[in-house]
Amino acid sequence: MKKNTDPHILVIFGASGDLTKRKLVPALFELYRQKLLPEQFAVLGVSRTELSDAEFRTRMTDFLPQEEDKSSLINQFLDKLFYQSLSTSDVYEYPILKDRLASISKANNIPENYIFYLSTPPSLYEIIPENLAGVDLNKTDDDFRRLIVEKPFGINLESAKALNKNLLNYFNEDQIYRIDHYLGKESVQNMLVTRFSNGIFEPIWNHNFIHHVEITSAESLGVEGRGGYYENSGAMRDMVQNHLMQLVGMVAMEPPVVVEADAIRNEVLKVFQSLRPIKKDEVENHVIRGQYIESHIKGELVKGYRQEKGVNPESRTETFLAMKFHIDNWRWSGVPFYIRTGKKLPTRVTEVVIHFKKPPMHLFGENPAYRHTNNQLVIRIQPDEGILLKFGMKVPGAGFNVQTVNMDFHYDDLADVHLPSAYERLLLDCMQGDATLYARGDAVEKAWEYVQPILDAWKERPDIPVYGYPAGSWGPDVADNLVDGSSWRYPCKNLSDDGNYCEL
Ligand code: BG6
Repeated sequence: MKKNTDPHILVIFGASGDLTKRKLVPALFELYRQKLLPEQFAVLGVSRTELSDAEFRTRMTDFLPQEEDKSSLINQFLDKLFYQSLSTSDVYEYPILKDRLASISKANNIPENYIFYLSTPPSLYEIIPENLAGVDLNKTDDDFRRLIVEKPFGINLESAKALNKNLLNYFNEDQIYRIDHYLGKESVQNMLVTRFSNGIFEPIWNHNFIHHVEITSAESLGVEGRGGYYENSGAMRDMVQNHLMQLVGMVAMEPPVVVEADAIRNEVLKVFQSLRPIKKDEVENHVIRGQYIESHIKGELVKGYRQEKGVNPESRTETFLAMKFHIDNWRWSGVPFYIRTGKKLPTRVTEVVIHFKKPPMHLFGENPAYRHTNNQLVIRIQPDEGILLKFGMKVPGAGFNVQTVNMDFHYDDLADVHLPSAYERLLLDCMQGDATLYARGDAVEKAWEYVQPILDAWKERPDIPVYGYPAGSWGPDVADNLVDGSSWRYPCKNLSDDGNYCEL
């Protein structure tokens, strides 16, 4: 069903930052190109840097597709971009913002519907909403006012709760859109369709048939100049508490009553409520943390994490994390879940692997080449988005030798279908007032509640090891021991390949 996108102005706080030029403006252009933006629409970039509208437009041009005919589409799009320099922490400057918005609205015949996107340092997440409210930009009777909040949503349970409380002082929950770009990924949403639109999967999606669930999100890049930020974050805060927990929610939730924001988000919350807490004295055995160390990749010397700019030379921040956990509810009773994520791993890949139980007996003997006789359903989030089912097949010829074969679907095979970027999808959803793919405040707090004891244990007990792993490897060996009776899948760039070695 096509939804309506009302005319509005999108205000981006932090407009001179990286996210705006690398993700937001290109996503907006793509929406524009596809005629998904309303006719009456404008973007107002806001940040401290002094820039004119023209200078802002020029800066953004470099991040738009180069092959487009500059004279037409790009220029029409750029005409919709405006810029306002503002000291965002200064309450006295907000009347300037209000006036500027009113004048853009009037000149372009746009009703005073505003979306405020917070793409600033998190220290401003509390100040900007208060200042917006100070000039009545937070609520009206006739027009909509929405607030998009980027991650990180707090740095621990306490700060996440404080942030929620503060936001709710000025905006209602239904005006707040907490972005988690993983939820915007097409293949993450497809997980719901795979599960709930296929009669063959839903009946077996439970402890009767599933042996364990594995979620891997590997990156081949390191911290890439973000050492200062990452040093105070680490893999748990950067990837697990938000992106990977949301993935767990999608894999494990019960069918929603309807496909609507609150129905889906209620089910995600229930999953988080059912997570079996990892006690502080269990942390060492359930959660493995690692940090990449210097190594040679393809003959080239690669820095270790401690040598990165902005990183403490004695840092104990984890750049790798593998954990085992349980969801204590009817569906998942006794099924272990495993999460693995890290920087400077052999390849960039995010996937969910459902490992089904083996058949009750080995009728065809135990062929060593077919050790892992369980069927696997691989849901590939990125790259090479798609789905793969692994099953046993008879090797032609004498005897009954079994071999694993693949049945796969790649999104690439859908000719002429544009796979929207996560930001395209999420921005459009917010413009249409649909919060389904945004994280709700209570779920964010629940996710923090779950990871907090692990973070506390690491802080209080320096004897819990941080294992070094050579950059370009699959993390510390000990992570392999976490997986009971099986092993991690070692995925490659291409969905259908796996093995112990992948090209970077
Ligand atoms: C971000 C993290 O939220 O997600 C980064 O801060 C990480 O450290 C990134 O690299 C991963 O996103 P994607 O979409 O590239 O998998």
